[in-house]
Amino acid sequence: MAGLMKILFIASEVTPFSKTGGLGDVAGALPTALAGLGHDVKIVTPRYQDVRNTGQLLPTGQSLVLRFPFGETGGPILSARLSERLEVLFLENEAFYGGRKGLYGDAGGEFADNPRRFAYLCVGALQAAQRLRFFPDIIHLHDWQTGLVPVALRRGFQGTPLARAKCVFTIHNLAYQGQFPKRTMEDLGLPWDLFTPEGVEFYDHVNFLKAGLVYSEALTTVSPTYAREIQTPEQGYGLDGLLRRRSHALTGIINGIDAHEWNPRTDSFLPARYGPEDMTGKAVCKRALLEHFGLPTEGNAPVFGIVSRLAWQKGVDLLLETLPAALQGDLKFVAVGNGDPTLEEGLRALQARHPKQVGVHIGFDPALSHLVEAGSDFFLMPSRYEPCGLNQMYSLRYGTVPIVRATGGLVDTVEGGLDGNGILFEAFHRSALLAAIRRALSLYADPARLGDFQVRGMGKDFSWTASARKYEALFQSLVEE
Ligand code: ADP
Ligand code: GLC
Repeated sequence: MAGLMKILFIASEVTPFSKTGGLGDVAGALPTALAGLGHDVKIVTPRYQDVRNTGQLLPTGQSLVLRFPFGETGGPILSARLSERLEVLFLENEAFYGGRKGLYGDAGGEFADNPRRFAYLCVGALQAAQRLRFFPDIIHLHDWQTGLVPVALRRGFQGTPLARAKCVFTIHNLAYQGQFPKRTMEDLGLPWDLFTPEGVEFYDHVNFLKAGLVYSEALTTVSPTYAREIQTPEQGYGLDGLLRRRSHALTGIINGIDAHEWNPRTDSFLPARYGPEDMTGKAVCKRALLEHFGLPTEGNAPVFGIVSRLAWQKGVDLLLETLPAALQGDLKFVAVGNGDPTLEEGLRALQARHPKQVGVHIGFDPALSHLVEAGSDFFLMPSRYEPCGLNQMYSLRYGTVPIVRATGGLVDTVEGGLDGNGILFEAFHRSALLAAIRRALSLYADPARLGDFQVRGMGKDFSWTASARKYEALFQSLVEE
């Protein structure tokens, strides 16, 4: 039995309060699992203007005032206690997190003051822990927004009880690095001796992600395959050399999913619930999905779905190139997503050309995302790269066969082959994707075989328990060092 630890978890989004993608899901579910193992966990995150579930937020009576060269800034610390051993601390800061739509940017692009906003999160989280006298064994960091934490810890908190904490940095996406002009060093008061290729400098810029990767005691990423891929020049985004040097400190731990939120037997977003022993509820969901998109419900065409950030990573451009040929056949396609305006436009145009076969919702809609997972027959993820991916696991649980490109966490979670639970394709190319869609159509034409695929997928255990134990073992090894 592992010793119980105090864990400070810092993340820029946390479900159910804020979310733009899988990071939010992980930052909501993993701390819950760790607290469930008996550890004392506090999450620190910004209190964005459009944070949800505000009814749960209570004052702590504490507030922060931080001094940076750019000026003095601060605000209260709010709290939501989720269970006996799990508390979320929200840093309020009117100038940085108030009065804006979006977490990282809006229609005008990334917010120009992101370096200040997330430097505030990094230093503020440490200050908040100090104020509340929470002295962690482990500080668990996530993506570039938290990259300055180990730097602040080493340079600003030496000789305090916080300094004994070990930092674990989890890479959810190596492509987003938080790179800012050199003058950011001065603006934030970062010591110039860190501005070297061994430190936070990256091609004459400050790189927040790199700071996290250089100065944390241990590194993880969200699947074993991605842990290998990011050590290659093709997928390393300029940081593969550093990651190869630190490979002894880097492990891949696959994400779990929130098995309560994503359960077709209990899902309250669905018009009907179901399990592998009786799939009639899934047919009801399919009909509701088609009706939602105003698509004809007669006939028995298979429905292919996507729910995605519309970003280069996700291969939606490849899908847009491939679907016109696929739509010659008898199938339907529904998409829920937002992001890149060109891809949004591409989806709208596809819908306009095939109004009886294609349904598109541009926007972020969690309720509809559940209906797509349940009501589709196949779920498409033609990603260029995918650190882990959560939707393919949701699909498997919902008896929706995933069609995924063989990359990153998709390889580690979807089983191809005749006795598998999904369909994988290798080349990032139209013909490979089209061939995968054709394999799906022949699977659909054979209900018994399709049923076997569904049952195998629905039986997989993707709950957080196993992965949380891996984090626990890693944390424990650092504490014992
Ligand atoms: P990523 O984090 O790269 O976006 P993941 O597959 O890890 O990819 O996680 C994406 C998460 O965000 C899933 O929970 C997915 O359902 C959700 N999501 C993405 N786009 C939307 C959307 N437009 N509406 C609702 N949920 C979405
Ligand atoms: C990132 C990745 C995604 C992963 C998620 C949670 O956003 O793009 O693959 O599942 O983080 O770790």
